Amino acid sequence: MTQPPDLSAMPCLFDEAFAARPQDAYAALRAAGPVSWAQIAPHTPALVVTGHRAAVELLTHPDDFTKDSRRWAALNSGQVPPDSPVLAIMAFRPNVLFAHGKRHKRLRRVVEDCLARIDMHELRERTQTHAAGLIAAFVPKGRAELMATFADMLPLLTFADILGCPAGMAGKLVKAGQGVIGAQADAAQAATDFATVLGQLVAEKRSKPGDDLTSWMIAHPARLSDEEIIHQLFCFVGAGTIPTASWIAQALLLLLNDDSYAGALSGGTVTIRRAMEKALWLSPLANFAVYYAVRPTTLLGTIAIPPDTPIMISHAATGADPELAGLGYDNRSHLAWSLGEHRCPAESQAGVMTQAALETVLERLWDLDLEGPRDVNRPGPFFHCPRTLGIRFRAQPADEPAVSAASSGGPA
Ligand code: HEM
Repeated sequence: MTQPPDLSAMPCLFDEAFAARPQDAYAALRAAGPVSWAQIAPHTPALVVTGHRAAVELLTHPDDFTKDSRRWAALNSGQVPPDSPVLAIMAFRPNVLFAHGKRHKRLRRVVEDCLARIDMHELRERTQTHAAGLIAAFVPKGRAELMATFADMLPLLTFADILGCPAGMAGKLVKAGQGVIGAQADAAQAATDFATVLGQLVAEKRSKPGDDLTSWMIAHPARLSDEEIIHQLFCFVGAGTIPTASWIAQALLLLLNDDSYAGALSGGTVTIRRAMEKALWLSPLANFAVYYAVRPTTLLGTIAIPPDTPIMISHAATGADPELAGLGYDNRSHLAWSLGEHRCPAESQAGVMTQAALETVLERLWDLDLEGPRDVNRPGPFFHCPRTLGIRFRAQPADEPAVSAASSGGPA
């Protein structure tokens, strides 16, 4: 385990074959053991954890493993190409996600305290309003590509509200956010624009505080500097947008595509919640949490883990670990939210947004059907999220009052 084997012999977690059939790569990794080598980008090897027990052990031993990617030896020695596409996510930033020990505790307290102040009813209403607005824009066409026009946009619009963005700034934030998500040639510029808008927002809220997350962060007793606040807000929106879009898409695919849900849409909210739970087992973030051993160590008593080497949790593969077979999807032992000190702090908020999004789609669009390719995931190792999600539908007649799937007996 200490020396990476030949790169060409490793399963790839970034090519077209992986995007189309990730389960084949997971099976190859699992055959090599609960922790094994993969190429996560060209010339970028990492250890990937597919075994649930090994992942739990790693995530619950913060003294042995850190998320501080400044330890990444192959990156520091120039073996990883400086333009490796995974660096957009894995390169160190001074935010809560990469922080360790006391510094993590300080930043995490701020993030948790601010999240706790979000009014969940208001969050639900704001998400519904934005969802209805986005749907209204494509409703006359009778068809839509839901990723770009809905699932990616909805979290960004809702975050702009949560952060207290004035109208002009919200548009800029959403535009830059779309550029970051698009991961195309302009992504680096989009990330700079995104940070610039956040900087303007923090300056504005310093002089004129409001009842919003940016102002709460500024007023927090931990007394973060403006720069620290910008980094935490960047992480907050960055960590929340694609995973939530991905959760919406995966649950919708189950609701429309899988007989055990599609046939029961009359169950309304209950069915939606069940689909959301199952989507967590498939995991919106496929392979995401990355750690570095701080010294040579072992997992499960025998697997040697070298220090300063990225070791990535496969949230998706650990959810399909044969050792968990028979548990059922209502069981919550999946690792979609990760575990331990860096476990996602926004599970409830993401759940409210995802549920409100799905309910609004199913209320407003009738005879909903999928069309076009939908099984190919976004490139790269991180997200279990379709690139496109084409749908056809009949708009709910405008003259009929909107009724919920739960109370109507189901529109679809
Ligand atoms: C409202 C939407 C969301 C927000 C604001 C959000 C925010 C965050 C933040 C700030 C962290 C870093 C926590 C830390 O390092 O202590 C985090 C971690 C994480 N989140 Fe979320 N998140 C959201 C939605 C989601 C969704 C939908 C998923 C997938 C089901 C998810 C999965 C994760 C995972 C796996 C981690 C751990 C990452 C790692 O260790 O590298 N999050 N999230």
